[in-house]
Amino acid sequence: MPGLVVAGVWLDNAMRTGDYFLTMLETGPVVLKSLGEDELDQTRAWANAPELQRLILRSGQVAPEDQRLWFERLRADKTRLVFAVFEHGRHVGNTGFYHIDSTHERAEFWILLGRDGSRGRGLGKAVLGLMLEHGFGALGLNKIFLHVGEGNLPAKRLYERFGFRQEALLREHYLIEGARVNVLGMSLLRSEYHGEK
Ligand SMILES: CC(C)(COP(=O)(O)OP(=O)(O)OC[C@H]1O[C@@H](n2cnc3c(N)ncnc32)[C@H](O)[C@@H]1OP(=O)(O)O)[C@@H](O)C(=O)NCCC(=O)NCCS
Repeated sequence: MPGLVVAGVWLDNAMRTGDYFLTMLETGPVVLKSLGEDELDQTRAWANAPELQRLILRSGQVAPEDQRLWFERLRADKTRLVFAVFEHGRHVGNTGFYHIDSTHERAEFWILLGRDGSRGRGLGKAVLGLMLEHGFGALGLNKIFLHVGEGNLPAKRLYERFGFRQEALLREHYLIEGARVNVLGMSLLRSEYHGEK
C-alpha cells in the first residue's frame, strides 16, 4: 500500500465514506496535488499537442479563455477531481476522476503524462496505484471505469496490470485527425482490486 498524505479541506457534499477532498497523495518521488493556477499553461499545451491528442482521444484546440472557464467550473464541481502529477517536484502530467457518482459509487479515471521523458518508466503505475487507493478508499467507490483507444498499448497494459477488464468495444467512437478510433470500455470493481499484478 502506498503511503497517503492527507492535506484536505472539508466538503459539505462529498462521497459517502470520504467526507474530505484530498489535495495531496504521494508515493516516493511522485506527488499528486489538486490542479492549481500554476499548472494551467502547461495543461493547455498538453491538451493541444497533436501527438498526445491521439492518445487522450481529443481533437480541436483549447483557447486560454476556454481553459479559464473550465478551471472555474472544475473548482465548483464535486463530480470531478483533477490532480497535477509531480515527480521530484516537476510537473509531468495530470490525472483525475470525472463523473464521480456517489449514488452508484463509481467514477471515470483518466491520466496524461505529457512531459517528454515521463512515459514508459513506471510513472503511470505509481499514479494509477495512488488513484485506485484513493478511489476505493477515501472516495468509497465500488467501480472505476475508463475509456482507452484500442491501439493505445501502454495504457491498455497499465490498466490490465491492475486488473481492469474490458467490458465494451465502442466502434468508431471518435474521429481524431480524420481517423475513426475504436475505444475500449474497461473497469475495475473494488472486489477485484488487489493492487498491481
Ligand atoms: C498511458 C500512460 C499513463 C502509461 O504510463 P507509463 O508511465 O508510460 O507506463 P508504465 O511505464 O507505468 O508502464 C505500464 C505498462 O505498459 C508497458 N508499456 C510501456 N510502454 C509501452 C509500449 N510502448 N508498448 C507496449 N507496452 C508498453 C510497460 O511495460 C508496463 O507494463 P509491464 O508492467 O507489464 O512491463 C502514459 O504513457 C501516458 O500518459 N501516455 C499518454 C496519454 C495516454 O495515453 N493516456 C491514457 C489514455 S486512456
